[in-house]
Amino acid sequence: MSTERTPARRHPVRWHTGGPGGARRLLGRLRARLEEQQRAETHRMLEADMRGLWREACTGVGLCQYIDVAAGLTVRTPRFGALRLGRSGSSFTVELMPGGEPQDIEAHAPRLAHSLGFAGLRVQPVAGRWVRVVLHHHDPLASMFRLPHTVIGRADEAVLLGRAEDARLIEHALASPGHIAVQGQNGSGKTQLSYGLLAQLAAAADVLITGSDITGLLLGRVWDGSAHREWQVTGSRDLVAHAEHLDRLVAWMDQRLDAMPPRQDSITPTAQHPLVLVALEEFPGLLRAAQAKDRKLAERITSAVLRLLSEGRKAAFRVLMLAQRFEANAVGGGYARDQFALRLSFRVPADSLVMLHGDDARSLGTEHANAAPGIAYLSAPGHDCTRLRAAYVGGYGAFCDRIARDARRPDRRREDAA
Ligand SMILES: Nc1ncnc2c1ncn2[C@@H]1O[C@H](COP(=O)(O)OP(=O)(O)OP(=O)(O)O)[C@@H](O)[C@H]1O
Ligand SMILES: [Mg+2]
Repeated sequence: MSTERTPARRHPVRWHTGGPGGARRLLGRLRARLEEQQRAETHRMLEADMRGLWREACTGVGLCQYIDVAAGLTVRTPRFGALRLGRSGSSFTVELMPGGEPQDIEAHAPRLAHSLGFAGLRVQPVAGRWVRVVLHHHDPLASMFRLPHTVIGRADEAVLLGRAEDARLIEHALASPGHIAVQGQNGSGKTQLSYGLLAQLAAAADVLITGSDITGLLLGRVWDGSAHREWQVTGSRDLVAHAEHLDRLVAWMDQRLDAMPPRQDSITPTAQHPLVLVALEEFPGLLRAAQAKDRKLAERITSAVLRLLSEGRKAAFRVLMLAQRFEANAVGGGYARDQFALRLSFRVPADSLVMLHGDDARSLGTEHANAAPGIAYLSAPGHDCTRLRAAYVGGYGAFCDRIARDARRPDRRREDAA
């Protein structure tokens, strides 16, 4: 008799691999560790590369100190700390040189970024003498920046001007003291920027949008039915109307200055006493046309604008002047030009850029002379030498739609102007 016995199944010894599936898990862990080591090695190599590039770039742009030691001349550059590679972007830390400031790096930002193979960089203070250099893969100025569909309710709320190279939003509150100058060649973006500004201000209860516009696009019929319309003069047929209108605004300003409450040296905008924005679209064009007709008329316009510029701040009057070039004799003299606190230049020749922004802008002159429409250079208190992409409302049609929807309607209870 024979008995058939099924041979017992041999199970692999598992005690050292951690039970069923242990070998697979072990292999997984080994693979992960290997990948981690490779990643760390790649990171170390990249960091070493970047450290070398940083040193060369700093030396190249002159962001270095030459130190004479016994062995010869050595170059000291801001010390590279650690590289961080993240999904949202890459950055590294840097220790400033003795006597150095973050602005020293910012001053050379475009050249340093290009030498490192990036489109731009931004400097953020970290702690003590250390800063973080954040690298941009794309130039934020290269892509269009659409103006969100927002309006402000009060003059002291900030309106959006645009987006800076480091992707920061650049804003400006109209209630803060200072007139606005915008220059740029034909088709560079002055009017589009102004469309955006006025569209954001149109609904504010304590802002009145007034001014003179020979083109009749920024002001005029688009504002029909709004509280602002009766304070706007357009077209180039009746130039006397522009002069009279500006005189009317000056008289209103004088009335406010005369009626200034005791112990107060400036008016705070309210719904009864709104901030008066005087937009002067293509102002040199208005002056030229007036000069061609009658020199006295041009002088009358110039002197009214000069008064608004020099005394308007206290009486809650702000001037927004647009010109292709802020040459002294085109905008009512050098004194008039000096009154603008917020200055924006779209594409202009290098000498025009320096004329409005001073010597700090000189290094950017050649590059900015070829800037695409909508790219502007800004100088203002608190914003040194900033390049930005102006917020784009979407053209004239979109501007008309926003004004029709948002512009404040007339309210007869308001201050009786002069
Ligand atoms: N911020 C912007 N983003 C994108 N495109 C823009 C921007 N600004 C202007 N543009 C483009 O440039 C064109 C011209 O702009 P705009 O009319 O504002 O120029 P301008 O400086 O007022 O010129 P002009 O001196 O002839 O009045 C616009 O029609 C638009 O296509
Ligand atoms: Mg224009």
